[in-house]
Amino acid sequence: MYNRVADSSTVKGLTRFGSTQRHDAWWAENLPFIIVFGSFLVYATWRAFENNFFWADPYLSPFYSPLIDPHHHWWPFSPALLILGGPGGFRLTCYYYRKAYYRAAFMDPPACAVSESGGRKYRGETSFPFILQNVHRYFFYIVTVVLCFLWYDTVVAFRFHGRFGIGVGTLIMLVNVILLTTYSLSCHSLRHLVGGKLDCFSCTALGPPRHTAWRGVTKLNEHHMFWAWISMISVALTDLYIRLVSAGVIRDFRLL
Ligand code: FES
Repeated sequence: MYNRVADSSTVKGLTRFGSTQRHDAWWAENLPFIIVFGSFLVYATWRAFENNFFWADPYLSPFYSPLIDPHHHWWPFSPALLILGGPGGFRLTCYYYRKAYYRAAFMDPPACAVSESGGRKYRGETSFPFILQNVHRYFFYIVTVVLCFLWYDTVVAFRFHGRFGIGVGTLIMLVNVILLTTYSLSCHSLRHLVGGKLDCFSCTALGPPRHTAWRGVTKLNEHHMFWAWISMISVALTDLYIRLVSAGVIRDFRLL
């Protein structure tokens, strides 16, 4: 996913930072990422430290799930800080986000066929610290556990005072967990796990079902960037809705 722009850095006279033969507004490609991802980082950090308004019966904010030690028996800080490392690490090491923030934040390179500053030895993700990006698959396992809790929270969101019900918050949580699950299922690491590493499906145990699963994951994987964006926006909006209901700013509307 991380490509050195060989053409721009090797063509004579194009080794200066920002040198390119492109005539389009290549610099504009990074703006949406900087604005939306930057806003998400600021909002999620603020919410993680806020340690308040994360529960609006029966809704639990996804930033605080699973809710661990909310009464501070042994953990004096926000419970969100105990669990956000998993989903946060998953996104930060995601192949799509890596490409996006290497360009938008590190300018290395700033865009396809645009030169980064020359004269440095390129080591990419083969040495410290970026070699740590390879832990992405382990974050995938952690996030799979977190997703189980989010699905549990969504089931709980269908119960109002012990009876079945549906509120606007229920539907928001349901859509959110579906989008987060789809984002995880479209992960490159999962695709590799279910079949991407195989050369021959018919020569391996459980070949046909693995091939079917690999084809399904591949379909989702083709739109991984879309799932990354939509699930990130959705998790922030779900938290915001629950926060506003919890703080009494808005009322949750019961549909059933
Ligand atoms: S590659 Fe993006 S979540 Fe795994």
